Amino acid sequence: MKNSVSKKITIIGSGYVGLTSGICFAEIGHNVICIDSDKSKIEKLKSGKIPIYEPGLDELMKKNRDRLEFSTDLIYGIKESEIIFIAVGTPSNADGSADLSYVETVARSVAINMQEYKLIVEKSTVPVQTAEWIRVTINRYKGKDIEFDVASNPEFLREGSAVKDFLFPDRIVIGVESEKAKKLMLCLYEPINAEKVIVDTKSAELIKHASNSFLAMKISFINAVANICEKTGADIEKVALGMGLDKRIGKDFLNAGVGYGGSCFPKDVRAFIWISQQLGYDFNLLKEVEKINLKQREIFIKKIEESLWILKDKNIGILGLSFKPDTDDIRDAPAIDIIKNLKEKGAKIKVYDPKAMDNIKKIFADIEYCDGLDSVAKNSDCLIFLTEWEEFKHIDFDKIKKLMSQPIIIDGRNIFDLEKMKKLGFVYKSVGRG
Ligand code: UDX
Repeated sequence: MKNSVSKKITIIGSGYVGLTSGICFAEIGHNVICIDSDKSKIEKLKSGKIPIYEPGLDELMKKNRDRLEFSTDLIYGIKESEIIFIAVGTPSNADGSADLSYVETVARSVAINMQEYKLIVEKSTVPVQTAEWIRVTINRYKGKDIEFDVASNPEFLREGSAVKDFLFPDRIVIGVESEKAKKLMLCLYEPINAEKVIVDTKSAELIKHASNSFLAMKISFINAVANICEKTGADIEKVALGMGLDKRIGKDFLNAGVGYGGSCFPKDVRAFIWISQQLGYDFNLLKEVEKINLKQREIFIKKIEESLWILKDKNIGILGLSFKPDTDDIRDAPAIDIIKNLKEKGAKIKVYDPKAMDNIKKIFADIEYCDGLDSVAKNSDCLIFLTEWEEFKHIDFDKIKKLMSQPIIIDGRNIFDLEKMKKLGFVYKSVGRG
């Protein structure tokens, strides 16, 4: 990685995106102030602890500690840096639209407190035209006639590989409306060796909507095909391989399963549907993407019922709760809906996840939390897998079979080999494989 011309950056919002970006910007040589209104979070960060689980982030923070500052003082953050990133939350409203009130509050604060030129960069996932609104808001509330720019720099970080995604991205999207903003943004990312896509702010915002929705569409598409495979006896893994080798399709994001979850895809698809509606276009394709995704959870429950018949008082062990491996994040995780549904049907539930136990405890008080695979398997009538954690791939199935009441496994992530499971004597169901 090349050396950078060190800049001073303030990142407002030290959530997943803000914190990862802040620490990675420090890694490439910039001085970064991370701001958050949550005092306990900032205290934790000041004492060297990371409030989220993200591989590699901890070490990177320790390594760059002298280039990182953490504070709850928004005004200080605004005054100190020329470049201000907005990385606050944009939660979903009930109608699918994004709640932009935090973004607006920050824009007003910047307007009131800026004393000299500022480049305000939106990093949060926001609807197209938000940069325009930030510009209007700052113009409206700024006291003096101070010059400023607004840029859009969407993130494409995946939880679990966010550090790598930041430092070695496929591309960096930069939406700007002036030469000055363009120069500053290019200077910021100079050390990162990746194609820089420089466009206007609206196009940058749309690249984010379109990319995430397209990836979600790929997942729903393969899940729909998986359902056809189940009805015909074809194997989705083989179908996906055959499709993915065509470079125009690509082999990534063709893993069938219980569907996508997380803080991005569900929210981003809903938001894009809503935005399109507002703009007078009915994006029915995306409505179907969402429908297929939710249906996968129902189909999965049906598979459990087909194997156990009545679920009332059956012991069901669940392995994997996070929306994907290598994260403790359970936002919109299929596990939540599936546990709720099984509980309603009267099943007795035991769970284990390597990282997400504390988070799921905040939602379900009345299920059994186990310290590992064996205790989940003990006396279970059925084991279900909802996240493909690495440690699940090395299970001693002979031992597990002896511990279980019934050798039934329903695998929502196609983790195990079909033939091997049959040979081991399990009733084994997965997604789209016979
Ligand atoms: C995603 C985008 O990938 C990232 O670019 C964006 O900025 C934020 O949202 P993330 O939500 O961290 O990242 O995870 P990702 O790896 O994309 O997976 C999302 C969901 O899709 C997970 O629930 C995962 O299990 C599921 N998925 C992914 C599949 O079901 N099948 C696949 O083939 C790939």
